[in-house]
Amino acid sequence: MSLTQHGRAGFAVALVAALGFLAAPAAAQAPDEAHELTFTRDVAPILQRSCQECHRTGSIAPMSLLTYEETRPWARSIREKVVARTMPPWYVDKNIGVQGFKYDYSLSDEEIETIAGWVDAGAPRGNPEDLPAPREFRDIAEWKIGEPDWIVEIPEPFVVAPEAPNWWGDLYSDSGLTEDRWVRAVETKPSIEGFPVVHHAVTSNSDPESDDDDYAFLNEYALGKNGDIFPDGTGRLIKAGAQIKFNMHYAAIGVETTDRTRVGLQFYPKGVVPERKLISAHVGDDEDLDIPAGASNVRHDGYYRLNENAHITAFQAHLHNLGKRQCLEAIYPDNSKEILSCADWDFGWHIVYNYEDHVAPLLPKGTILHVTSWHDNSEANRWNDDPTNWAGFGQRSSDEMSFAWVSWYELDDEAFEKEVEARETLADNDE
Ligand code: HEC
Repeated sequence: MSLTQHGRAGFAVALVAALGFLAAPAAAQAPDEAHELTFTRDVAPILQRSCQECHRTGSIAPMSLLTYEETRPWARSIREKVVARTMPPWYVDKNIGVQGFKYDYSLSDEEIETIAGWVDAGAPRGNPEDLPAPREFRDIAEWKIGEPDWIVEIPEPFVVAPEAPNWWGDLYSDSGLTEDRWVRAVETKPSIEGFPVVHHAVTSNSDPESDDDDYAFLNEYALGKNGDIFPDGTGRLIKAGAQIKFNMHYAAIGVETTDRTRVGLQFYPKGVVPERKLISAHVGDDEDLDIPAGASNVRHDGYYRLNENAHITAFQAHLHNLGKRQCLEAIYPDNSKEILSCADWDFGWHIVYNYEDHVAPLLPKGTILHVTSWHDNSEANRWNDDPTNWAGFGQRSSDEMSFAWVSWYELDDEAFEKEVEARETLADNDE
């Protein structure tokens, strides 16, 4: 298709959209002249759902967006960030792959249009009576999974100085477990005082019987996310003597703040081995990275074979400062292929994308997971310290990495068939 044709096609689409819009004057949300977009009616509900968990006093974001007075001065900046989809931080591609994630606070195209239209109209307040009741926030002290049976803290309280630079790093604690236990629920959370400085926290556990000091992904703390309560009969094994690794990102808030992040575990009763075991693994590691100085779009590929049938529960890209984007593809035993997810990468946010149960990929054994990663070593990448340096694989965060954390549980053939059939029934009912 030539460029001109392409342009025309785009125009036609825009025209149809506009006509559709005129033909449906009854549509309540459609912004038209009679319906001036206002803060109280149109914008406040969006901020409540997608922004305020972080944007309120005492939380992790730099400013509060609870009231009109607080929001109005940020209108331009809000427009810019939501249109670019850098805020809220949720970077999984909405146009490719499986759609449907737990804890998804991202904005729909309509919501972005609403915010942009409101700012363009001069960010009016509107009728105070339209304002929804204030959102209630959870009590940070409360465990969403219920009281844990076992709690492991970071080894020492961590003090963040008022103006400290961002701190990324790993902290290690003994789990204190003297026997193997199957976990049925897990939650990672900052201490109450520390909560405003904990940008993210990701926990993993070691396998003391393994020779390589590998850690398996356990749980991610992120605002707006609950702990992980595994489906009935599903569990994750933590072995006696395991270490817990806390991968932390601390960000200063102008006052000295002390945190003691911890992870809470609930166990299956002793001796009970759940039917389905939850696994998290590095998938598609490529340790032969070659990222030339200044290059903005460098691709690498890695592969991982699933030896058992799998129900995939979550995907998280793992890249360092120069990461740009990652895709996870399934290559089925019959060689057909399907992209499961793609997500842009911003080193400031380590987001785990948890698939909704009814769309979670079901992959037959023998499927190969194909991970494609892109790195940006140009000066356009705001996390790049030195675009004149070549970059390669390594453990330091100034080195690069390229793999995906994928979580799944295994299913024998019979159980797998059952899940596939249930999925097909669901799809038929939808039609
Ligand atoms: C998960 C937490 C979180 C959510 C949800 C979130 N933000 Fe943010 N936001 C932050 C943090 C933290 C920053 C500071 C910059 C950074 O770390 O990326 C920020 C920065 C911003 C900025 C730039 C402020 C500046 O200093 O220039 C704007 C504007 C913004 N957010 C708007 C929004 C809006 C609008 C929403 C909802 C549609 C939203 N954010 C949702 C955490 C969040």
